[in-house]
Amino acid sequence: MSANIQGSAPGQGAVAKPRSSALMDWINARAPRLQRFMREHLTEYYAPKNFNFWYYFGSLALLVLVLQIVTGIFLTMNYKPSATEAFASVEYIMRDVDWGWLIRYMHSTGASAFFIVVYLHMFRGLMYGSYKNPRELVWIFGMLIYVALMAEAFFGYLLPWGNMSYWGAQVIVSLFGAIPGIGDALTEWIRGDYYISDITLNRFFALHVIALPLALVFLVIAHLLALHEVGSNNPDGVDIKKVKGPDGHPVDGIPFHPYYTVKDLVGVVVFAALFSCVLFFAPEMGGYFLEHANFDAADSLKTPENIAPVWYFTPFYAILRAVPNKLLGVILMGVAVVAFFFLPWLDRAKVKSIRYRGWLFKAFLFAFAVSFLALGYLGLQHPTPALTNAARVFSAVYFAFFFLMPWYTRIDPTKPVPDRVTYHAH
Ligand code: HEM
Repeated sequence: MSANIQGSAPGQGAVAKPRSSALMDWINARAPRLQRFMREHLTEYYAPKNFNFWYYFGSLALLVLVLQIVTGIFLTMNYKPSATEAFASVEYIMRDVDWGWLIRYMHSTGASAFFIVVYLHMFRGLMYGSYKNPRELVWIFGMLIYVALMAEAFFGYLLPWGNMSYWGAQVIVSLFGAIPGIGDALTEWIRGDYYISDITLNRFFALHVIALPLALVFLVIAHLLALHEVGSNNPDGVDIKKVKGPDGHPVDGIPFHPYYTVKDLVGVVVFAALFSCVLFFAPEMGGYFLEHANFDAADSLKTPENIAPVWYFTPFYAILRAVPNKLLGVILMGVAVVAFFFLPWLDRAKVKSIRYRGWLFKAFLFAFAVSFLALGYLGLQHPTPALTNAARVFSAVYFAFFFLMPWYTRIDPTKPVPDRVTYHAH
């Protein structure tokens, strides 16, 4: 106890102050807004009290972002961004650097974990209508994060200079060649050379370790500031600010600390356990997290048997391959991502949460989720005519979710939304 108390002369009537508050006073005298900022956005941010399982993934996404940055810094200490040394330097990290295998596997498993967490986080947004007014900006920043994350993963995948790194980059960069007029010049400009070379590797390295992580961090800050401006949505889609107590706080809100810090900590522990299982028992996940062809060094004369991106890109890759015309395929693949940005305006329903929506929205959301998973599976397979036809059907379902949304969300029979939050699905 005494270690916590600042010394004061006996008999002077001075009130003993805990050290931490003395430190806060010192900081407050110099930067008074700092504590206010911390309270507003962290400790005393009032969040709805009915958050459920789906609300774990925002804080987990933050955790994985930090994990990727920290393990990335350590990898960079031994990685060599040159076509002659990159592959060997990764092998060196795996075999000779103390704990290098752990850092590398944490980073490669972390990439897949990042996408799993972010896809679940986005799905929560779809279920509870978190993109709808007034959270359009939160959603748009989220989508910008998602695009930056895809670019970050794509640039990072070239760095080990394995054969799939090489050919994957070759296929994706050459897609820009489909753009009429400027295609070839653009492809050359991206590569910095006539083929994927040392120059390409160097610029992808710069983008992967500096430009995109910076962009991601700034976008995540913007995402959270935008969220805290309007407040969090919840599984009921009820606006908790409508009913306030005498203290001015929403009666259905609770301060983030200690309530959600403790809840999120449970999520972190479960996530850490699952993540460790993959990390220590199946870090390559049978070729899904680290592809087999990437254990061979890049070889411009030897194409891997089945060139496919890592699983998190395969839904979009399947859409690309389902279209016979290359330019149209590239356009549809782009539309498949860009369509998400427009959700706040495509959705015309008066209610937010799936709990109060009718069967039509539920059916479309279910069909969309199934088609996304099916396309992800098909994108990993060697294409046959039957599989390509299946990819066409699932692509149609995927796009129907977005393009028919203004229609089905308007006519969908909804249920009345309560004034206060509840704790169960309806
Ligand atoms: C690095 C990636 C990301 C991080 C670190 C992140 C972080 C967070 C955090 C901490 C929250 C508040 C806690 C919560 O509601 O779960 C949040 C909320 C939200 N995020 Fe993200 N996010 C990321 C990516 C995305 C993406 C890709 C989208 C969608 C395109 C998105 C959409 C949303 C929405 C709509 C909310 C408000 C949800 C609600 O109030 O119901 N986020 N995010």
